[in-house]
Amino acid sequence: MKKRIAVLASGRGSNFQAVIEAIAAGRIPATCVALITDNPKAFAIERAGKAGVPVTVLDYTTFASRAEYETALLAAMKKTRADLYVLAGYMRILGPGIVRSFPQKIINIHPALLPSFTGLHGQRQAVEYGVKVSGCTVHFVDENLDCGPIILQKCVPVLQDDDEDALADRILVEEHRCYPEAIRLFCEGRLEITGRTVRIR
Ligand code: GAR
Repeated sequence: MKKRIAVLASGRGSNFQAVIEAIAAGRIPATCVALITDNPKAFAIERAGKAGVPVTVLDYTTFASRAEYETALLAAMKKTRADLYVLAGYMRILGPGIVRSFPQKIINIHPALLPSFTGLHGQRQAVEYGVKVSGCTVHFVDENLDCGPIILQKCVPVLQDDDEDALADRILVEEHRCYPEAIRLFCEGRLEITGRTVRIR
């Protein structure tokens, strides 16, 4: 049975595109039933249009408070009846009410090897710290920032002349491989979570 997946994105949407393409190529047994974005200018919206994915725009700036935004977001997410919610460059923290509504059903990709360099600008943090390897992490979302059980990680070298953009480009290549792979494993029912540990069956 095909799973229903909904994607949340705030910007460019290249990871969203990688997921759309993997589904179209038959590599993920799923249908992408929705793109939800907090940003009416997100390029992800154009990608959704081309792929025939329905879009819900919840312009964060039009809500009176974060609580009102989250109420609308929760309703939009429930409406999709998705089996999996995929955060793909969604640049806001999901409140605990939303996380608790979809336990072990929300995943995120982060551009660093967690638990290092959480939060914004993971690539810049890695360059500034002087680490020799970095990468990306796909993980389940829990109530703490960039903290849930880790599904997959891929690493890349950090070269000595790298700036943030050069490293981000190298990591992004791995993100586009890693995220569809993690989503495929989820959709095939092959992820088993015990505490913080995710086993692949
Ligand atoms: C990606 O590098 C993703 O890992 C990162 O934002 C970029 C989105 O690119 N996400 C975060 O930093 C989340 N904290 P995309 O819009 O082209 O997929």
